[in-house]
Amino acid sequence: MGASRLIVAMPKGGSGKTATAVAFARGLERACKRVLLVDLDPQGSTTAALRADSSPGGYTACDLLLSPETPFAPLRVAPYLHLVPAPSQTIALEFEVQALNQLAGPVTVRAALERVASAYDYVICDCGPSLGAVTYNALAAGPILVPVETTRLTVSVLTRLTKVVAQLRGVAPGAFILGYLPTRYTAHQTESREALNALRTLGGRRVLRAVIPQSTAVARSLAEGVSLFDARYRASQAPAAYLAAIDEVVSRLEASHG
Ligand SMILES: Nc1ncnc2c1ncn2[C@@H]1O[C@H](COP(=O)(O)OP(=O)(O)OP(=O)(O)O)[C@@H](O)[C@H]1O
Ligand SMILES: [Mg+2]
Repeated sequence: MGASRLIVAMPKGGSGKTATAVAFARGLERACKRVLLVDLDPQGSTTAALRADSSPGGYTACDLLLSPETPFAPLRVAPYLHLVPAPSQTIALEFEVQALNQLAGPVTVRAALERVASAYDYVICDCGPSLGAVTYNALAAGPILVPVETTRLTVSVLTRLTKVVAQLRGVAPGAFILGYLPTRYTAHQTESREALNALRTLGGRRVLRAVIPQSTAVARSLAEGVSLFDARYRASQAPAAYLAAIDEVVSRLEASHG
């Protein structure tokens, strides 16, 4: 069977998409699952967080999406963790995918992932903050995990995202929101508690039970290029919170496979 796909998306900057995509990849890798992480964000934060800056002319998300004839050549970050680095020619990619969306519907990312999925247990895509052609196409590629920052709840962004996903289902039945993951939670801040309550009211059972705390370990692990599950972050609550989130997401993925 091919890999389970997971598209990490939320059209708002700083929601914890990259932190989540990287923590999920590291957590699954740690459990000896074969993981492919695809960095679809031109900002390349995931690529940087894995200390895997692609070499000039190296294989990137542009090749994965637009050149099926180019041999698949992900970077090997760890024995069980491979990475397709961020797209190099962002504007060209955005234009080409936009044209493909109009021509054939949003099937480019899905087709690309299906080509390479057999070598992995999980394929995780980190999307950028803009709801452009590439993100739109990626949303159609599989179950979507939506990290939601619990500071100022952006109801309008969530409404927009759910509308886009609902529209997409017409052309891509696989597009659905697997779950909302509350991130950057600070229990002693009223604003954070209110945001979490509002998200639970709005998202109901789609909201995961796991809540990712605001934690310097998360920011440091991204900045230092070290797995969140490294011993140095042991004192933090964030690794356990991410492991709980991974368990929930894996169960939901298994349930969605029927
Ligand atoms: N749980 C957390 N605790 C503390 N800092 C966090 C947490 N999650 C993310 N951050 C920090 O917040 C910033 C934004 O997080 P991240 O890059 O994961 O968001 P993003 O949604 O991917 O943003 P973008 O839309 O720009 O790609 C980063 O500096 C990151 O280190
Ligand atoms: Mg990001």
